[in-house]
Amino acid sequence: MHTSTFKRPVTSEVGIGLRKPHYRALSENNPDIQFLEVHSENYFGFGPEVDLLQAIGKQYPISLHGVGLSLGSAEGIQSAHLESLKRLVDLINPLFVSDHASWSLTGNAHLNDLLPLPYNEESLKVICDNVAQTQDFLGRQILLENPSTYMAFKDDMPEYEFMLQVAEKTKCKILLDVNNIYVNSKNYNFDPYNYIKQFTANIIGEIHLAGHSVNNIDGQEIRIDTHDNLVVSDVWDLYKFTMQTLGIIPTLIEWDQNIPELEVLLGETKKAARIQTESLQKYAA
Ligand SMILES: [Fe+2]
Repeated sequence: MHTSTFKRPVTSEVGIGLRKPHYRALSENNPDIQFLEVHSENYFGFGPEVDLLQAIGKQYPISLHGVGLSLGSAEGIQSAHLESLKRLVDLINPLFVSDHASWSLTGNAHLNDLLPLPYNEESLKVICDNVAQTQDFLGRQILLENPSTYMAFKDDMPEYEFMLQVAEKTKCKILLDVNNIYVNSKNYNFDPYNYIKQFTANIIGEIHLAGHSVNNIDGQEIRIDTHDNLVVSDVWDLYKFTMQTLGIIPTLIEWDQNIPELEVLLGETKKAARIQTESLQKYAA
């Protein structure tokens, strides 16, 4: 039987990224979604926007999604960053706290990107130490997201194996980004369905869906995880397979550039909700 993540009884578990142009419509119209997600670092100024977030947090559970912890950094986690995150977590009491299996920090330089890790024993130890330190400091479990990458390392273990090992060793959960799996599968030529099959429902805390772009560089097709468009039909198919394999998992529509009208985002959540309901019926049959 499906056990909901949410306190209220719900038939689907879908959410959207909270973006400024939608604040008013969300708080006035109270659409049928179950959670909102924000980038944690956007609130580290601890100004009035945190008050706004707390206010909307009374309507919807908030998920704090990070892009700056640099969990793969061999230099460890920056204590100032961790302290800001803890302060925000204490203020918001979020549904989830998540970040990526990537790095973005070296010395004093904070690179504005989620850079790829080699997937080997050495990097596994680094990220496990950093995830464990983060969870200890926050006093709660975090979710680790599989990234989209544009460079792979020789002799790596498969990414799913790396993610599974981090989850097993640190007891974190995984934020499975289905679009990232699809983008990587096209760029590196692997089977995305086989990737999904490696996971069990109990270690996946959340799912991301997003749009991406298709580029042609020197005659080679490269897909880039741009979060600026509708989810493509191949990713919806993969999502449907994920729901049928793992059951209903809270699913967020990410859209970070060229932000559309709220109705467009809600249209995507309705699609995800319909797939969840159909998957649940298949489970019950
Ligand atoms: Fe994502």
